[in-house]
Amino acid sequence: MGEYAAYEPGLPASDRIRADVRLATPEDARAIATLYARRHDKALHEVEPQVAGELERIGAGTRAGCVFVAWTRERVVGYGRVRRVVPGVDGQPDELPDGWYLMGVVVDPAWRRRGVASALGRARLAWIAERADAAYCFTNRANRAAIDLHRSLGFEPVELTFAHERAELEAGEGQLFRCTLGTEFRERP
Ligand SMILES: CC(C)(COP(=O)(O)OP(=O)(O)OC[C@H]1O[C@@H](n2cnc3c(N)ncnc32)[C@H](O)[C@@H]1OP(=O)(O)O)[C@@H](O)C(=O)NCCC(=O)NCCS
Repeated sequence: MGEYAAYEPGLPASDRIRADVRLATPEDARAIATLYARRHDKALHEVEPQVAGELERIGAGTRAGCVFVAWTRERVVGYGRVRRVVPGVDGQPDELPDGWYLMGVVVDPAWRRRGVASALGRARLAWIAERADAAYCFTNRANRAAIDLHRSLGFEPVELTFAHERAELEAGEGQLFRCTLGTEFRERP
């Protein structure tokens, strides 16, 4: 599987589904690790302990962030993380604004273009809106599907050059986005 979805802006809308979105629990570790391993072409056994450890630490949502899952027909079909970025701390670039970031959203290829990532995005923005009046995210400039997704959620590009070792982004490869969070996110998660 490619790391990025093929960019298909003109695709006619496929059936939207009502994905239920909730905070992940440690029981979701295998499903999340499976999606991550497939996307990054890694073995499940390499990834699962890391994901399980992460969910034990932050599953219910902490000052460091949270993880949401989307599920339908009783199985997880996507996940998305929220992370607090404090510039210069814990390996985060000095250049990035301090704040809450949407990070690492992945949807099962069989369930794409049905609104699952949008639902995960809205739930995470509602979570952030309880804590801040803006949210950030960054993507690789080559990931045009992710760029359109985040723009449809209300993100606007911010001109900034940064490098992010852990996201494997060289200077100039990453695009930063910012979304102002109004009352709509607080009232209608
Ligand atoms: C990017 C990704 C998360 C989108 O998930 P999804 O559930 O298919 O997205 P949605 O159905 O909610 O799409 C919402 C909007 O995003 C845009 N979009 C999503 N996928 C797209 C694609 N392949 N090509 C063009 N635009 C796309 C469209 O504007 C879409 O609205 P539309 O379907 O009405 O045209 C998914 O393709 C994925 O998991 N990709 C691999 C991982 C990845 O790149 N993650 C992002 C890292 S920042």
